[in-house]
Amino acid sequence: KFSKNCRPEGESSVSHLVTGIGQLVTNDPSVGDGSALGLLDDAAVVIEDDRIAWVGSAASAPPSDSAQDLGGRAVVPGFVDSHSHLVFAGDRSGEFAARMTGEPYTGGGIATTMAATRAASDDQLRQHVGTLLAEMRSQGTTTVEIKSGYGLDVEQESRALRIAAEFTSEVTYLGAHVVPPLFRDRRHEYVELVAGEMLEACAPHARWADVFCEPASAHAFDGDETRTVLRACAEAGLLPRVHGNQLAEGPGAQIAVELDAASVDHCTYLTDADVAALGAAGRLVDSENPVTGTVATLLPGVEFSTRSPYPDARRLLDAGAVVALATDCNPGTCFSSSMPLIIALAVREMKLSPAQALLAATLGGALALRRADVGRIRVGARADLTVLEAPSYLHLAYRPGVPLARAL
Ligand code: NIG
Ligand code: FE
Repeated sequence: KFSKNCRPEGESSVSHLVTGIGQLVTNDPSVGDGSALGLLDDAAVVIEDDRIAWVGSAASAPPSDSAQDLGGRAVVPGFVDSHSHLVFAGDRSGEFAARMTGEPYTGGGIATTMAATRAASDDQLRQHVGTLLAEMRSQGTTTVEIKSGYGLDVEQESRALRIAAEFTSEVTYLGAHVVPPLFRDRRHEYVELVAGEMLEACAPHARWADVFCEPASAHAFDGDETRTVLRACAEAGLLPRVHGNQLAEGPGAQIAVELDAASVDHCTYLTDADVAALGAAGRLVDSENPVTGTVATLLPGVEFSTRSPYPDARRLLDAGAVVALATDCNPGTCFSSSMPLIIALAVREMKLSPAQALLAATLGGALALRRADVGRIRVGARADLTVLEAPSYLHLAYRPGVPLARAL
């Protein structure tokens, strides 16, 4: 299971030394070169159970029960993919092909995936999630958030969340993904359902609640509907996050800040006021104790797969925002599980330096999930190490499309 403690109680711990790390990215600015990435050369890490017990130079590593030598390869914190929709069935490659020749993305295809998902058995869905998570791990991802949102009725949404919770503790209730076809002419009844009976059935299985806030789309939700759903979810103990500003400028980013959502995701179309609000909200994020503040999560795979303009990540950082990068892996807007691809796109298309992009894909994702135990390599953190078939992290963006990263 991703991000869960696996050691049975009462068993004594064994230590494992990982040495021969040519370049170690710790994301701990108090060590190494003093940069935000906290770079150490010729490093070693000692792991005990699922935790990091020691970090330092290979020459001074303590004796351990077992050891492995990485032969000069670089190691980075495991990628934290803070936004995915893995519980689904069906295929929308035809919709992708149509987009590549000029069709716009509207969110209308979500109903196609809803029908296929409803028709799939629990085991089929479970197997598919497992396959996608294996894909992610083999590309260096060690923490994954998974949303519902293709069930869109009480039974199907709670089923999706139950299945997601078998794989990760970062589970998000997205009953307010789109208004399903049955409710097209009575959307207020659907909002009531999502904030009422559906929420009651789903809350026990989720940590987070999310809404696709996009007044420009007839399928998604406006600002008032978003507030109604997220407030009800907060009362039921779920922490808010928002899909916002994907298709047009709109209220999503500012509602996320107003509700102290952990993150607003997409941020493709932002006004100066949105950027300022996200800057102020970013300054509230305490990376040692992330309990408040809103992260701006960028999903460049979506701009890639929907032929949309890429937002300027540098503009957000300059304003003081905390930026995260995630895949949004889903059948409609980005069917990629690859964080290295996302990093390369963010560097090439969103004006991030390779260091800023790596930080956003690791620590940024951790902060978007309000986690202090992942996204960094330091004593006490989870032992989530990603090895690169390369001498430095720069190769993640320098060698796009090459399978360099794998979770240790
Ligand atoms: O994050 N924008 C809303 N939801 C998903 C896409 C879902 C779909 O098209 O199937 C997203 O892009
Ligand atoms: Fe999404």
